[in-house]
Amino acid sequence: MTTTTISRMQDEVRALARERDAVILAHNYQVPEVQEVADYVGDSLGLSRQAAAADADAIVFCGVHFMAETASILCPGKTVLIPDLDAGCSLAASIDADQLRAWKSEHPGAVVVSYVNTTAEVKAESDYCCTSGNARAVIEAIPEDQQILFLPDMFLGIWLERVTGRKLTVWLGECHVHAGIRPEDIERWQAEAPDAELLVHPECGCASQCMAFANGRTHILSTEGMIDFARRSDKDRFLVATETGIIHRLNKEAPGKTFEAVSEKAICQYMKMITLDKLRDSLRDWRYEVTVPDEIASRARLAITRMVEIA
Ligand code: 13P
Ligand code: SF4
Repeated sequence: MTTTTISRMQDEVRALARERDAVILAHNYQVPEVQEVADYVGDSLGLSRQAAAADADAIVFCGVHFMAETASILCPGKTVLIPDLDAGCSLAASIDADQLRAWKSEHPGAVVVSYVNTTAEVKAESDYCCTSGNARAVIEAIPEDQQILFLPDMFLGIWLERVTGRKLTVWLGECHVHAGIRPEDIERWQAEAPDAELLVHPECGCASQCMAFANGRTHILSTEGMIDFARRSDKDRFLVATETGIIHRLNKEAPGKTFEAVSEKAICQYMKMITLDKLRDSLRDWRYEVTVPDEIASRARLAITRMVEIA
């Protein structure tokens, strides 16, 4: 698409959103032309908070399916649309409600903490939900003598064990994009740019090893945490270990600094299913609505509300 076509389509999207009283929320991994037309761009925690506070009639969620489900649970009276229903998540697919029920029955009395990258059915079986932005605070809010089942991301679980000093019982799930970022990618970059700050998402397969570098220049952060850190930092070169879509947002929020992806292959094909044309079609044709059955939504809401409230 040429720049003129993009800008014309963005105008169309904005006009449709106004006409339909819809707010557009986009995750940091979305393609630049979608980020640019959104009312709010952020991480899972920020997007959930924005959804909960939205006063428009509808929310168009430019992200993956579990994020739209979470918005629908938080906003029962609103219409929540996703431009492509196939925008899933390999991590959320790594555990279903039957597997979780079976796991819980092996550990009676344990508290279940689910990462937000899970289906609504899994959240309905959980006591707490968390995102990478507040996982540590959620674990620390639970009494120390309480057994915790943490799911579904094993790398986030291992990292949480290290930073909280707590022993967790961890589900062995992973995100194929972050698991694919290997310690070799980091080592290669550190050799080439030894003075750069390294920003690492805790879902990365290398997150715990990276902590062991303990060089003061490695920072394990959620996507919005990376943006915040880069904005405030007095450094000007950053290596980024997460999905490459975030580079657009980093460049925009911290102009004049240099951001390089440690792996150009770190691309989430689910996030990239949302395109500007599909966003326009979604608003024009009022599709695809994401709903969660009341019985599941009401059980999941408690865990999600705890997530939104814990800083
Ligand atoms: P954040 O909550 O850090 O944005 O992460 C969401 C996600 O899907 C990471 O892969
Ligand atoms: Fe899911 Fe991984 Fe894509 Fe995030 S990057 S949405 S965890 S598949």
